Amino acid sequence: MFKEKNYVVIKNAISKDKADFLFRYFKLKREVAKTMFAKNWLSPYATEWGQWNCPQIPGTYVMYGDVAFDCLLEELRPLVSKHTGLDLVEQYSFARLYKKGDELKRHKDRYSCEVSTTLNLGGDPWPIFIEPDPTKGTKDSSGYKSEYTKGIQIDLEPGDMVAYNGVDLEHWREPFNGEICGQVFFHYNTSDHAQEHENKYDGRPHLGLPDNFVNKRLYKFPDGKVKELDKEQLKKIRHDDYQRQIKAIKE
Ligand SMILES: [Fe+2]
Repeated sequence: MFKEKNYVVIKNAISKDKADFLFRYFKLKREVAKTMFAKNWLSPYATEWGQWNCPQIPGTYVMYGDVAFDCLLEELRPLVSKHTGLDLVEQYSFARLYKKGDELKRHKDRYSCEVSTTLNLGGDPWPIFIEPDPTKGTKDSSGYKSEYTKGIQIDLEPGDMVAYNGVDLEHWREPFNGEICGQVFFHYNTSDHAQEHENKYDGRPHLGLPDNFVNKRLYKFPDGKVKELDKEQLKKIRHDDYQRQIKAIKE
């Protein structure tokens, strides 16, 4: 089914109890991070306790490569492989605690997200939309262009996940009317080429490490070519992340 439709819903990927535990864990982690940043316990450049400067939704708490979520990334790989029919390589986990008014704009993901998944940890219900036609939505040097198609609405209960081809399929969430919604994304590459193994763990030496441990990473450019970028080139792509972090902490 995944090979024809490019997405698949996996009900009860983890138990409701496990989802609830991880939701509470993640909310407490946000509180701990907030206190430590406020008391100057952490440097504003620290990323290992999460950040509020993600360019997609600035001001909303996100966590790249959390140790618990990266463990789950590894644990769920066989299940996601089974449902997609693809041999997969772990890339990274990314989690977000959405708040009222948040909106996930229509977009396509970067190369490390050939198979993206989002798993509902808990909070208020909030559907994700996926456009199944990969020709819709294009990215070039002037930015991302959408045709604003209707897409398919996918509703997930805590513990459910949807796996989709994040590089090819446009996906988004409409403005959120609830109070809080915890989602964790697990990203995988297919293991068709030797190159994908070099991109394992999103270019990090092993799981659980922050994004800035990356030395090299594969990127897919608008012309479809996949190129390896080094740390300096990646830094340029990361624009003013640190400035946003300092501003978010002060607000
Ligand atoms: Fe995405």
